[in-house]
Amino acid sequence: MIDGPAPVPAHTAVSGTGPSPSAGPGVRIGPLRPGDAGEVLTVQRAAYVTEAQRYGAPDIPPLRETLAELRADLEAGVLALGAWSGARLVGSVRGRVAGSEMEVVRFTVAPDVQGRGVGRALLAAVHAAAPPAVTRFWLVTGARSDDNLRLYAAAGYRIAGAVTDSAGVELARLERPAR
Ligand SMILES: CC(C)(COP(=O)(O)OP(=O)(O)OC[C@H]1O[C@@H](n2cnc3c(N)ncnc32)[C@H](O)[C@@H]1OP(=O)(O)O)[C@@H](O)C(=O)NCCC(=O)NCCS
Repeated sequence: MIDGPAPVPAHTAVSGTGPSPSAGPGVRIGPLRPGDAGEVLTVQRAAYVTEAQRYGAPDIPPLRETLAELRADLEAGVLALGAWSGARLVGSVRGRVAGSEMEVVRFTVAPDVQGRGVGRALLAAVHAAAPPAVTRFWLVTGARSDDNLRLYAAAGYRIAGAVTDSAGVELARLERPAR
């Protein structure tokens, strides 16, 4: 543990119209609004650059997402949560619901805040905010991204397959029951 905000409790309030005041000391988790799109894109790009460098693939889909696409996603009402440290957005995650499944996407924490529990809290919050009809969570992550694979394994995900993305990066598909 490095100096900085204390770890965020796994159970965080996510209802309401802005950052929740009850998500723990230092960091609050709450719904993202379209007006947050610029900050979300900034954090997302900073976070995914490391992944892109790992695979030598600057064109991975999260880095190709434009501000307009991101704002449209938020306007369309996708399940989208942010983590704020004071006024600063330090992380975000989205959940794409299709029938009984929810894909966890664009899960990012600002590089200087990683490793302090914000990601774990965001993941728990997006799981908790899934509609009751959702019975399975799934996601893809880099097949060689050992830190990510460890985080998801600790959150109950298991490897369910392999895919290659449009940038040629090998990904692992991970799944877990929703409840
Ligand atoms: C993945 C990510 C969202 C995790 O957020 P985080 O706040 O660093 O994670 P937490 O501090 O809550 O949890 C730490 C755990 O996550 C894992 N982890 C993943 N990336 C990490 C990083 N850069 N630094 C520290 N831990 C990381 C570790 O397994 C760690 O578990 P450990 O304590 O057993 O070592 C964040 O590291 C990130 O934005 N990475 C780049 C983008 C990315 O790969 N997103 C996921 C795409 S599927």
